[in-house]
Formats: sequence, C-alpha cells, structure tokens
Amino acid sequence: MISSKPSEATTGRDVTKLVTPGPILLLGAPGSGKGTQAKELVRLWGIPQISTGDILRANVAQGTELGKAADALMKEGKFAPDELVNEMVAARLELPDTANGFILDGYPRTLPQANWLDAHLHTALPLVAVKIQVDYNQLLRRITGRRNCPHCQRIYNIYLQTPKRAGYCDVDGTELIQRSDDTAEVLEGRMKAYEALTAPVIEHYHQQGRYAEVDGDLEVYVVTAAIQSAVVKIRLGE
Ligand code: AP5
Repeated sequence: MISSKPSEATTGRDVTKLVTPGPILLLGAPGSGKGTQAKELVRLWGIPQISTGDILRANVAQGTELGKAADALMKEGKFAPDELVNEMVAARLELPDTANGFILDGYPRTLPQANWLDAHLHTALPLVAVKIQVDYNQLLRRITGRRNCPHCQRIYNIYLQTPKRAGYCDVDGTELIQRSDDTAEVLEGRMKAYEALTAPVIEHYHQQGRYAEVDGDLEVYVVTAAIQSAVVKIRLGE
C-alpha cells in the first residue's frame, strides 16, 4: 500500500509559498494519477481542481442535456464533443475561486480544445503543463482497481490505495463505487483516444515551453513533490 500522507518537509510545502501557482495543466494517460495529484495540489496550493471528467459525470448523474449527450460516449471511452467541453470549462473559469490559479485535470485533451484554451485564457500567468508518465501495465492495475467515493470524490484503489474499511470511504463512510468506464475493455478504447487525440496536445504544450514530465510510477507524495518542484522552477524562471 502506498502513502499519501507525506510530511511537510518531503512535499516541500514551504516551496509552494515561493510562487503564485497560476494555471497548471496535468497531462497523462487514463489512470496516470491526474485526479489524485490534482487533489494533493488543491490541498497544498489552495486553488481549485477543474476536472472535465468529474463535471461530465456530475451532469450524467443529474440527467442534464450535456450529461445525456456525453453518457454513451463516456461509457465507450470516447471523448465528448469539443464545443460542449469548451463551453463547460468557460463557465467554470468564470468563478472567482480561479483568481490565483487552478488545476486543469483532463482538459484540454484534443488539439481543438488546446487551441480554444490558448485563445480564451486571459490569466496573469501563463499555463504550466506537467505530464505524469506511467507504464501501461501499471495503468491497467490502477484503472481496474480504482474505486471512488461518490460523496467527497476521494479516490482509492483496491490494490494500491486501499481504504481502511474495504468498500467504504475513510472520510465520510460512504460506500465506494466503480466507474462504468473502469474496465480493461473500455480502457483499450480510452488509450486509443488518448494516443490519437491527446498525444498531439502534449507535443503542443511541450513546444510552448513551460512544460515538464514527472515519473508517476512512484508513491503519491513523491509524485506531488516532483510536480510542485517542476511548477516552482518554471514560475521562478519566468
Ligand atoms: P477522466 O475522468 O478525465 O478520465 P481519464 O483522463 O481517463 O483519467 P482518469 O480519471 O481515469 O485517471 P487519472 O489520471 O485522474 O488517475 P487517478 O488519479 O484517478 O475522463 C473520463 C471520460 O470523460 C473520458 O474518457 C471522456 O469520455 C470524457 N472527458 C473528460 N474530459 C474530456 C475532455 N476534455 N474532452 C472530451 N471528453 C472528455 O488514479 C487512478 C488510480 O490509480 C486510482 O485508483 C488511484 O488511487 C491510483 N493511483 C494514483 N496515483 C498513484 C500512485 N502514485 N501510486 C499508486 N496508485 C496510484
């Protein structure tokens, strides 16, 4: 089992105070740990996580028009239409909690989305992109073992990040659920979409500079510290 409760010394919480985080983009394959790391960065930097996957799942659960449009696509591991996702992100970025920065998790994941964001993001600081790299076999274990708390959204894994009481959230005792797209079969489609449509997005941000890659196949707190230090280094160099 891995630890996600590092000491302040190991996470470099003091390092986070050196810079205003600004907009941070987490890139990586399904299961690479974007959501897990985004939640750690929220805790450390006090800026919000903007997860398009979470917003879409909330819309599916509420039965909105957007949710109805996205539901079948998500079940097959296909992407929701760019225009719908861009509009959804635009609405989220309007909220005042994004003033000092935010963590984009799962967006942009196509080149048209990246181009849209480049044209519409008017923040004081430019975007910093960090790719979390994890091997395929590990991704499979992470995806098939993932369980989520539908109440507080905390992420667990039955192999790697087990809750104290099997099947229930440590924080609020809610019964954990498995996402309908977290099967080996759907992962295949998600990986194909990632390689065809998201790999060019990674290259896009790589070419813009302000880009770093971290090894995601390490304990959660080690990955968090690597992301923090990459963001701080890029911000201090601006
Ligand atoms: P989304 O929810 O964004 O899915 P994803 O990108 O496939 O990423 P995941 O949420 O599966 O993984 P993650 O990288 O966040 O990993 P996590 O931290 O949970 O999107 C779902 C769907 O919505 C898409 O397929 C698409 O249909 C649609 N969609 C979303 N955004 C869209 C967009 N922009 N445009 C169009 N469509 C969009 O970790 C995974 C597991 O690993 C967990 O069990 C965790 O406990 C464990 N773990 C994490 N880190 C570690 C570690 N260091 N060591 C051991 N275990 C770890």
